[in-house]
Amino acid sequence: MILLGIETSCDETSCSIIKDNIVLSNIVKTQEIHKEFGGVVPDLASKDHEKKILSIVNEAIKQSRIKLNDIDGIAVTYGSGLLGSLIVGLNFAKGLSIGLNIPLIGISHLEGHLSSGFINKEPKFPCISLIVSGGHTQIWLIESIHKFTVISNTVDDAAGEAFDKGARILGLGYPGGPEIEKMAKTGDPFKYDFPLPKVKNNIFNFSFSGLKTALLYKKNKLDSSGIYSENDLAASYQHAIIISLLDKLERVICHYKVYNVMIVGGVSANLYFREISLQLKEKYNLDIIFPDLEYCTDNAAMIAMAGYLKLLEGEKTDLSIEPNPNIIY
Ligand code: KG4
Ligand code: ZN
Repeated sequence: MILLGIETSCDETSCSIIKDNIVLSNIVKTQEIHKEFGGVVPDLASKDHEKKILSIVNEAIKQSRIKLNDIDGIAVTYGSGLLGSLIVGLNFAKGLSIGLNIPLIGISHLEGHLSSGFINKEPKFPCISLIVSGGHTQIWLIESIHKFTVISNTVDDAAGEAFDKGARILGLGYPGGPEIEKMAKTGDPFKYDFPLPKVKNNIFNFSFSGLKTALLYKKNKLDSSGIYSENDLAASYQHAIIISLLDKLERVICHYKVYNVMIVGGVSANLYFREISLQLKEKYNLDIIFPDLEYCTDNAAMIAMAGYLKLLEGEKTDLSIEPNPNIIY
């Protein structure tokens, strides 16, 4: 079965072709226009998707060496995300679905990230999946490729947001995660202490807004007291975010009997995160699965994979589907 996936929920315009669970092409173009604004500007994002989507779809088809008529279904992100950006991808997908007379499968962005853990990997069920992106920080229990239940959530910022806001405090660019990771490489992660966030009522939930505020206070204090290494500060802040993620993950591992842990979403591209999560792997004798790097940040291959799993079950979406900026799953 050949699926074409489209992802335009934020500032990546992406198209992918997969054959069953094998990725044949995955073209991702990250919009550069937002860099000078320190965050994504919604109107600019949708205009840029509109400008590029046709050429990106053509490139994905060309690279995969399939013909348009070989495609069995179109999977597209319909939420969550920026309304104007979602509309571009969804309308394009609807047109293609009508033109080729093949099913449309609407995919939630979160479901796409969860499905990225199945690309080139074979998790054993039950497993848990930690999603760490710019908009979400959640743990899911996955009992089969069709049965997902949410276990925990963030009560304020997402982990990716903690990187992005932290980067702004440190005077770095957007997106903040890769910038902090780069700066932290030569810093000492144990130089400065950050409090481990605690959340009332649910011991599995995350919170990151306190860490960001602690960084702001620490930086102001250090700035006024003389010379210090910004690399140490970035490394310690990155360490604090990751330790907090692993702390909640460990609580969940102790509570649920699972074979694997998947860690997906933009922050899972962080190599320091991958390195220190090995401690959990050793302690609990669990396989920890990170997607290949190209499937961590937003991409259409994960959307096509989610669509493939749905189409296998005979699921398809009505063409009247509307974009939904706030859908969770
Ligand atoms: O999954 P994603 O591409 O988009 C959303 O669905 O939000 O995640 C983007 C987030 C951003 O907050 C970005 O700073 C973070 O992932 N990110 C990283 C790294 N690469 C991207 N965070 C830490 N380390 C990285 N290497
Ligand atoms: Zn995402």
